[in-house]
Amino acid sequence: MDASLQLISVTATHSTAPAPAAPCSNAATPDDRSPPAGNAPVGVAYPKTIKSFVLRAGRTTTGQAKAFEDLGPRFVVPYTAAVLDATALFGRSAPLVLEIGFGMGEATAHIARVRPEDNFLCCEVHEPGVGALLKRIGEQGQTNIRIVQHDAVEVLDHMLAPASLDGVHIFFPDPWHKKKHNKRRLIQQPLIAKLAARLKPGGYIHCATDWQPYAEQMLQVLGAEPLLANTAEGYAPQPEYRPLTKFENRGLRLGHGVWDLVFRRRPLGTD
Ligand SMILES: C[S@@+](CC[C@H](N)C(=O)[O-])C[C@H]1O[C@@H](n2cnc3c(N)ncnc32)[C@H](O)[C@@H]1O
Repeated sequence: MDASLQLISVTATHSTAPAPAAPCSNAATPDDRSPPAGNAPVGVAYPKTIKSFVLRAGRTTTGQAKAFEDLGPRFVVPYTAAVLDATALFGRSAPLVLEIGFGMGEATAHIARVRPEDNFLCCEVHEPGVGALLKRIGEQGQTNIRIVQHDAVEVLDHMLAPASLDGVHIFFPDPWHKKKHNKRRLIQQPLIAKLAARLKPGGYIHCATDWQPYAEQMLQVLGAEPLLANTAEGYAPQPEYRPLTKFENRGLRLGHGVWDLVFRRRPLGTD
């Protein structure tokens, strides 16, 4: 394994690989001989957790570093194992949308701009990506985004109360193309069950991918979650708030498909 790569993250879920066009350059091939997560000494049996991402070394630009310094204290929320008070965090009461894995934050900043009435809690582990989103926040004077630089699965487990979310965005999650890595994919039954439980009735989950086998898996997993109902017959039309990113445009030019899925939590009494 490349010494510059370090596996982190947690929980039984999923994520990356080379593909028709990986939306983030986060893709890296994990090595199954990697040292165990947590504090277990190398070579000692350890209950293996499945990593949903690979934390890559990446260059943080001067502009991103400055954004961290200037805006980090206001917009980056430390991970803590305590339920967060979103009203206090954003300084207002508004619908709350969780985004998992925003990459460099291009879509995130756009969506937060076209939906000023909503609050966006956005998780990403890739430091240059966090710096890039902070930079955009500064450039656009945005106030409705907060960032948690931590594994979203842990954020979900410890910081978000049941029925606290109005929406969830998971755009182009790492597809983990190789069969032996499919288990790292984010969109799997346990995570979707947790997300569904944290949605308010009527709240939505919006996923998008450019990898057809993953799209099929998403459709199957989301369709099998009893708390959720599909808003479309199969795949959904692309909601107008989701922009075409640079990455996606490149893929479309190369003839790749993109699939959106939008499911809603069923109203109470229909669980
Ligand atoms: C393929 S990129 C897509 C980025 C972005 N959504 C886009 O459309 O360009 C997936 C991103 O998800 C992040 N990621 C994967 N698993 C994560 C997790 N459990 N918590 C937070 N971020 C995660 C990765 O670091 C990576 O930046």
